[in-house]
Amino acid sequence: MIACDFAHVELMAALHARCFAEYWDAPSLGKLMASPGTFGFLARDSDGDDPVGLVICRLAADECEILTIGVVEHARRAGVGARLLDAAQARARKSGAQQMFLEVGATNTAARRLYDGRGYRQVGRRRNYYRTPERQAEDALVLRLELAQV
Ligand SMILES: CC(C)(COP(=O)(O)OP(=O)(O)OC[C@H]1O[C@@H](n2cnc3c(N)ncnc32)[C@H](O)[C@@H]1OP(=O)(O)O)[C@@H](O)C(=O)NCCC(=O)NCCS
Repeated sequence: MIACDFAHVELMAALHARCFAEYWDAPSLGKLMASPGTFGFLARDSDGDDPVGLVICRLAADECEILTIGVVEHARRAGVGARLLDAAQARARKSGAQQMFLEVGATNTAARRLYDGRGYRQVGRRRNYYRTPERQAEDALVLRLELAQV
């Protein structure tokens, strides 16, 4: 696991574009990484070679929000997403966070199973939150994990 800094912004952008249809470019990620409380990790594959996943989070007071998490397609279902979550949670806890929050698309079965298995529970729903010309509006579920319970 590699802690992200500005030197990784181009790499993070390339990974994000491989994980998401609506991806964040390098300038946006640079601004994000410069904002207070933001941190992230890159995960390597099991051979320890190429980075295959990333997570970016923001700490505010005693809460930590997962802003994005993704694993490139060929490296999925090998525990990378779970390792990224664990790293984010450990870092958040070390910085004094008590709770993790995130938003996930209601139809995103893979991500919902990952979060459910790590103890995240639904605390809200934002109707038609994800709206783009390319896809149908989708609800976002707001999930929370109490860090004291893991
Ligand atoms: C969601 C995502 C990050 C999961 O990454 P991953 O590395 O494949 O996840 P892991 O291998 O650590 O999986 C951990 C658990 O999550 C669940 N899971 C992951 N992918 C799944 C799938 N396609 N179908 C069902 N369950 C799945 C399983 O319970 C899995 O445990 P198991 O393999 O022992 O059964 C990845 O699918 C991804 O990048 N998706 C596209 C981007 C995205 O949707 N990000 C989340 C936005 S909120």
